Amino acid sequence: MKRILVWVLVVVFLDSCTSDIFSVYKSSPSEFIQTPYTLVIPDSFPVPLAPPVVLTEEGIALGKKLFYETLLSKDNTISCGSCHAQEYGFTDNGKDLSGGVGGLKGLKNSMPIMNLVYYQSFFWNGRAIDLPHQALMPVNDPLEMQETWSNVVEKLNAHTDYPTLFKKAYGDVPIDSTLVTNAIAQFELTFISANSEFDKMRKNIIPFTPSITNGLSIFNTEPRKTLFDAPGGDCFHCHSVPLFTSLIFENNGLDVNPKDGLMNVTGKASDRGKFKVPSLRNVEKTGPYMHDGRFQTLEEVVDFYNDGINISNTISPIMVKIDSNGDSSGIANGLFLTNQEKSDLIAFLKALTDEEFLTDPIYSNPN
Ligand code: HEC
Ligand code: HEC
Repeated sequence: MKRILVWVLVVVFLDSCTSDIFSVYKSSPSEFIQTPYTLVIPDSFPVPLAPPVVLTEEGIALGKKLFYETLLSKDNTISCGSCHAQEYGFTDNGKDLSGGVGGLKGLKNSMPIMNLVYYQSFFWNGRAIDLPHQALMPVNDPLEMQETWSNVVEKLNAHTDYPTLFKKAYGDVPIDSTLVTNAIAQFELTFISANSEFDKMRKNIIPFTPSITNGLSIFNTEPRKTLFDAPGGDCFHCHSVPLFTSLIFENNGLDVNPKDGLMNVTGKASDRGKFKVPSLRNVEKTGPYMHDGRFQTLEEVVDFYNDGINISNTISPIMVKIDSNGDSSGIANGLFLTNQEKSDLIAFLKALTDEEFLTDPIYSNPN
């Protein structure tokens, strides 16, 4: 049975509606009907906090069109969907660094878009406080869409469909960046991925294979302290089931001299090199990997965790492995996985692919 959460259902907005959460609708002069949308949270997922925006069918439909709208970019060539392609788990088409208008190369690897209702901040360094604020930024980013919001609003007002669609979603209020980003956020919140091969195995819909069973066990086991211990990848502390992210920021040991990351937002030296722990759902499709796209394949990622960790003063203590004598130096900083164990771990990661999510037309380009 599905657990159904309904946060706020508002069917009719009136002139007199003054509550803060509805401030974007306040100036609506006429009564209009909206169809409330119920976000269905899978049974296996935790109960999220209330989403940052009210969800309606009309708002989501508008957000879907806007997410795939190239008018949001300077030369009308790039949409959010250009760098967040569904078949790649909503990342940028296998590129290491995401590119913007005019083929400019960006600074970061595009991030997957799914199960976003759980996050309290966005981007690799967490600089956006919520989804509507996040959606404001790509439009005037000089390496991304390179457009001004006043131009976007002008283009949408001149379009044959948008004025009517905005009226349906928000009533008689002028189109502005608040409404555009509100609608896009509504659409993005509907991206729920919870039906991977692994989920089907957990529900006994399909059987576990021996390799995936072993990979899951490695994923969820502490690292070996001696060569006689069961194999452990110790992935679960940060990429915890069922979301496959702990939702926080960590330094996972990529660099000897880590740079940037959460420190750029908090100003704290102790946050240097800490990046958002990405969800591993659909990870088979979201490569290249890490904030800078440095690893092309999951094999490279697993080799890195197995014996390529760089110790620095902000590294997560979880990454620093100890041996049976309590020693955390030298060779102890490895997982000592055999080739077979590494390939079982990768088989498990690939079982996190959710084909339905990657192909469902409810998320596809309607334009
Ligand atoms: C030019 C490519 C590009 C375009 C266009 C683009 N993005 Fe992104 N997106 C990225 C990259 C790269 C990141 C990570 C950037 C960073 O952390 O500095 C990102 C991050 C995000 C995140 C953060 C996810 C998380 O878990 O924190 C969301 C949400 C997102 N984009 C949505 C959008 C929306 C909505 C639009 C359109 C308004 C858009 N993107 C346009 C490349 C792009
Ligand atoms: C201490 C927390 C931590 C542990 C333990 C950990 N990871 Fe990560 N993982 C991260 C962080 C943080 C990132 C993003 C780092 C960055 O880009 O700077 C990441 C990134 C990844 C990525 C890239 C995802 C993407 O979309 O780019 C993969 C794949 C991955 N981890 C798999 C694993 C596996 C497999 C294990 C166990 C062997 C593991 N991780 C253990 C924190 C951790």
